[in-house]
Amino acid sequence: MCGIVGYIGGKKASSILVDGLKRLEYRGYDSWGIAAMGNKKLSYAKKVGRISQSGDLAKIGGNIGIGHTRWATHGGVSNKNAHPHFDCSKKFVVVHNGIIENFAGLKKQLISEGHKFESDTDTEVLAHLVEKYYDGDLKEAVRRALLEVDGTYGIAVMSTMEPDKIVAAKHGSPLIIGIGDDENFVASDATALMPYTKKVIYPEDNELVEITKDGFCTVTIDDKKVDRKVQEIDWEQGLAEKNDYPHFMLKEIFEQPQVVRNALAGRVIPTEGLAHLGGLNMSPEELLKVKRIVFVACGTAYYAGMVGKYMIEECASIPCEVEFASELRYKRILFDKDSLVLVVSQSGETADTIAAMKEIQRKGIKVLGISNVVGSTIARETDGGVFIHAGPEIGVASTKAFVGQITALAILALEFGRLKNLSFMEGKRIAEELKKIPEKIQKILDQSDKIEEIAGKYLNHDNFLYLGRRFNFPIALEGALKLKEISYVHAEAYSAGEMKHGPIALIDENFPSIFIVPKDSVYDKTISNMEEIRARKGKILMVTTEGNLDVEKYVDDVVYIPETLEMLEPLLTVIPMQLLAYYIAAMKGRDIDKPRNLAKSVTVE
Ligand code: F6R
Repeated sequence: MCGIVGYIGGKKASSILVDGLKRLEYRGYDSWGIAAMGNKKLSYAKKVGRISQSGDLAKIGGNIGIGHTRWATHGGVSNKNAHPHFDCSKKFVVVHNGIIENFAGLKKQLISEGHKFESDTDTEVLAHLVEKYYDGDLKEAVRRALLEVDGTYGIAVMSTMEPDKIVAAKHGSPLIIGIGDDENFVASDATALMPYTKKVIYPEDNELVEITKDGFCTVTIDDKKVDRKVQEIDWEQGLAEKNDYPHFMLKEIFEQPQVVRNALAGRVIPTEGLAHLGGLNMSPEELLKVKRIVFVACGTAYYAGMVGKYMIEECASIPCEVEFASELRYKRILFDKDSLVLVVSQSGETADTIAAMKEIQRKGIKVLGISNVVGSTIARETDGGVFIHAGPEIGVASTKAFVGQITALAILALEFGRLKNLSFMEGKRIAEELKKIPEKIQKILDQSDKIEEIAGKYLNHDNFLYLGRRFNFPIALEGALKLKEISYVHAEAYSAGEMKHGPIALIDENFPSIFIVPKDSVYDKTISNMEEIRARKGKILMVTTEGNLDVEKYVDDVVYIPETLEMLEPLLTVIPMQLLAYYIAAMKGRDIDKPRNLAKSVTVE
């Protein structure tokens, strides 16, 4: 999704902007642009395609600037629609994330007042509104412009009239201010600031920040001064580098043993069979009052919620539901104050998830967040929650965040379970088994060469069916999603038992099935489903528990995973799914870390 970077200080702004925008590339974009000022002179460059150090950039001097990566919403992908946007006299420059919903009416009005528009974007109205309201105070002009606007925005504005400041503002789109020594920054995402500063402030919705080289000042849209504390980001710079991996996605897949260790650290006590998540901000009494749990999320995070549902129902017998955030907001909310809502979001900035969260909070229902990004909107605006501590996930396709989310949900299931149904011995078993998961993931990663070889055998198929039952049904869904999004190959997933109710009609020798069948309570039933496929000459790649050698005569290919508790199987079975998708996409030469049409954090509804 769109990205923003701004700089004011003593260095060459264009270099910092380009570097910052490159760090945001993982969010997805189709065009980009920067503008910078020196000696009151404004220069800029806008381009369709990937950011490159093109000749044009050398001309862009000055120590203050703003830049943007655009993911088209209003207006096609073109140089003229790329940000920054300008007013008629090119004195005011704006970059914007979000959507101005009433832009058509505003544009009509501004045109009738004589303003000349150059682009088809909603953003350009902001530049003209600032021009209209400018009366010697840039912050005030931006504030007045924003009072006219409906919709969402994270913006950065600068002007040749006041070349010593950037004005940033936020409503519903992410924005962060980086604080340096004699230099300051603005960005839509902390990743852009990593090499420059760890000190940040997080403006809230409906706030404007005036940023100069040596300070900042925050006001609300109603012009009331607010104090925002400077906070420290704890991510390490090295985590955002690719090291020797060809893609961030592969690096992130291989980081997963450590991701599980990070998520477990200090939260699980195997000797007592207990778990404790301090960030929930709920006493045991409050937890015991929860009658229903509702997971709200999108995409991969939704599938993590499905796994969480099975885990909590198994350990604590609390009824759970999983809702798509994009649907929940538009239906009647039929749960009440006895319910606990868990919003699951890697980025903490997904617009659908935030909108659903706000709708639920409006009804007075407690909402907790499971997120990876400290300081994200969801992390800040929920009543408590769990950080998964997976480190920055750069690859657009989520891998390590999924494993981090499931680990956090397993801990939560253990905590709830021990308050309710689970015995000491059962709790101990889960806690001990959780601690062993990192080395078991490593054992699967050590088979990556074999999985790559298998990927080569399936490379030329155009359709895949992913099948699993119970805990592994969400993993079938996740496996199919991974393959679709990075290799652009069609894949669909079913609960294995549902396959005979329709999808079986698709099966022939050209339509392979990926069966996720560890030796667990539904093993025999799933094997019957596999037989149904075999009878129709469908090729089968099976993921099963090590030692289950008998299957080798029935299936075309097998990947073995170590044995674990049934509820923890998803932490292992998802690894071959990720690797299979990765290798098929790599062999097809796909742009794995930035698949077409996708964005890392989907900040529009
Ligand atoms: C798929 C993927 C997406 C995200 C979804 C939610 O690989 O990454 O499906 O899971 O857009 O994103 P977050 O978790 O940031 O809310």
